[in-house]
Amino acid sequence: MPGVIIFILNRVTLSKSSCGFICIMPDLKKVSPIEQLRDEIAHHNRLYYVLDAPEVPDAEYDRLLRELQQLECEHPERITLDSPTQRVGAEPIKAFGQVAHKLAMLSLDNAFSDEEVADFDRRVRERLDVQAIEYVAEPKLDGLAISIRYEAGVLVQAATRGDGLTGEDVTHNIRTINSIPLRLVGDGWPRVLEVRGEVYMPKASFERLNAKAREMGEKEFANPRNAAAGSLRQLDPRVTAKRSLSMYCYGIGFVEGMVLPETHSTVLERLKQWGLRVSPEVSVAQGLAGVLAYYRLLSEKRSSLAYEIDGVVYKVNCLDQREMLGFVARAPRWAIAHKFPAQEEMTRVLDIEVQVGRTGAITPVARLEPVFVGGVTVSNATLHNEDEVRRKDVHIGDTVIVRRAGDVIPEVASVVLSRRPKDARSFVMPRQCPVCDSDVIRAEGETIARCSGGLYCNAQRKEAIKHFASRKAMDIDGLGDKLVEQLSDQGLIHNVAGLFNLTQTQVAGLERMGEKSSANLIVALEKSKQTTLAKFLYALGIREVGETTAQTLANYFLSLEAIMLAEIDALQQVSEVGPVVAAHVQAFFKQPHNREVIDKLQQAGVSWPAMQPIKQDEQPLTGQTIVLTGALTEMTRNEAKERLLALGAKVAGSVSKKTSLVVAGADAGTKLSKAESLGIKVLDETGFIAFLQGYE
Ligand code: IVH
Repeated sequence: MPGVIIFILNRVTLSKSSCGFICIMPDLKKVSPIEQLRDEIAHHNRLYYVLDAPEVPDAEYDRLLRELQQLECEHPERITLDSPTQRVGAEPIKAFGQVAHKLAMLSLDNAFSDEEVADFDRRVRERLDVQAIEYVAEPKLDGLAISIRYEAGVLVQAATRGDGLTGEDVTHNIRTINSIPLRLVGDGWPRVLEVRGEVYMPKASFERLNAKAREMGEKEFANPRNAAAGSLRQLDPRVTAKRSLSMYCYGIGFVEGMVLPETHSTVLERLKQWGLRVSPEVSVAQGLAGVLAYYRLLSEKRSSLAYEIDGVVYKVNCLDQREMLGFVARAPRWAIAHKFPAQEEMTRVLDIEVQVGRTGAITPVARLEPVFVGGVTVSNATLHNEDEVRRKDVHIGDTVIVRRAGDVIPEVASVVLSRRPKDARSFVMPRQCPVCDSDVIRAEGETIARCSGGLYCNAQRKEAIKHFASRKAMDIDGLGDKLVEQLSDQGLIHNVAGLFNLTQTQVAGLERMGEKSSANLIVALEKSKQTTLAKFLYALGIREVGETTAQTLANYFLSLEAIMLAEIDALQQVSEVGPVVAAHVQAFFKQPHNREVIDKLQQAGVSWPAMQPIKQDEQPLTGQTIVLTGALTEMTRNEAKERLLALGAKVAGSVSKKTSLVVAGADAGTKLSKAESLGIKVLDETGFIAFLQGYE
């Protein structure tokens, strides 16, 4: 049977020959239990880390590994370099050794526009004197370049790029990365193979690492690339082992004992067959039109990828053509990196001001010299809170790195300390609210400082009204932030109840408001009066009462009166209401001012249908936490949320280990990748609809 023959010839034993070289010998002996175990572990490792398709639970994998450790402990002479037990556990090294690259590790020229790519394509065609070129288009991974040397299929050395000619020996750390095989699989690999690729840290791991650093009061990494580099440049491999790094291979360097295939795409196929990871986004593209279409596609996909990319790379596919094109200085003529607009830029902090939020939270905001980053001009970046300003050590006058990833709020990533001017000033949290002059108080153990003015503070009042009118609250169509500002500044309303006394003439007199828009607003106000108890509760803006808590409170107490009268103990009977939320709810309803506003709202006609007790069996999703992400087409996100809440589920805004299910609509972003990396069940819209129908 041919299969059996191949199997026998594939198994190799490494043995030192008399001349000191490692030889490959067909292993015709019986496979020992220790080898069988190693093969089995390597197989599961590959399924888990390379193919993302585990077959056995983690516990079984751990059991096999422990069994192997035990056997190796009893027979230390049988430990091999490629044994799965040898990934972690090596002793820290004293210093990094140097590795001279047998074949230089080159860099790439960059293109920042379609025109520059067109120039590149024209140059290539002219040099080769051909009409059209076949390219391979790949993501440009934002990590660090590594060259890994396999001898007789066994990983023997790994080095960083360094200056391209000499790098640092990071073998001890590379061995800890589970997705990198210690021994190649399949057949046909050459005697010596240097694999080139990018080691990176997935976005979710980066966020976890920084969250932990924040918790411990340690310095955070500015981005996943720095985190990957920092993790690999560790003398102690045990530190690297904890950092969940991964690698995608994008080519080969030095080889001995193999005739190269004709195309780069075949090279990548081979690497995959040998158990190395190659990005699934890699694609063959025809000519300029093909590569530019790939660029658009990946730009759109970028935010949903589990790792950072900073552009795409186009490479001439035919290796003979590559040879003809050759190199200029340190970069090949046959490849180019087409970069995305930078997501990080440098600029200056002109001032640090504070903003007052709905609950009085005072947020420091950096006013920046405008800078174009991530495709938009940014002139403000949040600094979150006082501690964050100290931790990042941001001074007024500093040069900072501003980051804007996807549609995330721009933030100051780090300070370029070497550029700090002599007259840089540090930020001082004001003692008085800049809007109402009330005292600013930061309670013991809290990170947030707050204005104590409550609804006396014009800023808090405006924010409270904006919240009341917002879509998930009273959903008053057409009452945007600008309009609330005007209504409040002109003294037309002092609190949310005032909204329902507005007349069309008053509204029509405002800036950018005409006959029609004012009439529309009055209609929208009227319409909004018919609401639900949960929405009304949420609209009141009680601290810590988000949509989900509002819904659970409504489901439990069924009427506003019951909630208003509830004692702390009774409130805490509601699932997910702890002492803090209960105290906020009670404090809110004890305030005579708040009761007065609620009275006025009800007098104006705000009402909701009476609620019936929900039987437990009508809430089959009780105890489940579901996250909605991406765009849905069949229903709005809000509708989806309401249906889930009605079935008893908790709908959360972020994915964590506690998440039971993630519903990912079109263009889902990091939440989806996080769910995938945590192994949480994900449903697309069709699956979700079927899921809901199951409860009808
Ligand atoms: S090819 C001769 N392919 O970009 C070609 N590089 O500026 C050498 N990189 O140092 C590299 N993704 O760290 C290549 N798909 C990809 C890449 C990639 C990221 C990095 C790599 C290299 C740098 C070149």
